[in-house]
Amino acid sequence: MAILKVARMGHPVLREVAAEVPRDQITTPGFRQFVDDMIETMREYEGAGLAAPQVHVSKRVVVMEVAENPRYPDAPSLPLTVLVNPRITPLTDRRVEIVEGCLSVPDLRGVVPRIAEIEVEGLDYHGEPWSERFENFSAAVVQHECDHLDGLLYLDRVEDTRRLSFLREFERYHRVAVPVD
Ligand code: NI
Repeated sequence: MAILKVARMGHPVLREVAAEVPRDQITTPGFRQFVDDMIETMREYEGAGLAAPQVHVSKRVVVMEVAENPRYPDAPSLPLTVLVNPRITPLTDRRVEIVEGCLSVPDLRGVVPRIAEIEVEGLDYHGEPWSERFENFSAAVVQHECDHLDGLLYLDRVEDTRRLSFLREFERYHRVAVPVD
């Protein structure tokens, strides 16, 4: 396993539309190794999720996990989830405001309106079809990570830039909700 280098805002790879992964590639040793490295990298930097473009690989792969994250003591847990070629279907028009951050946009927090309930379909770690429903915080994590696959950062979806904050100032003055990244 290896900890991968994280691309920061400004690197062109974060603005590309990532490529679909052929299903028969998912179970190859090289791809498995890559996914395992993504998981290790996400855990090392205490992200709630990580998308392949964030480690300079423009493929449609995301990993997510929220388990007693010291950066987010109030976050509801989300079991380790590996998604390949994910597609999101909104299940409601309702939006929730989520405080987000991103390993590619270090030390910032911003409020993003996210679809409150979604269904996600894709392929899992074994290359098998997979689908699940998510709501609120977990749904926001999925939307944030899937946005990376289309070259979007959460800052693109921040509607009120007056609510942007550096992490330290956020913790000091604005800590009211559960952040995502
Ligand atoms: Ni991110």
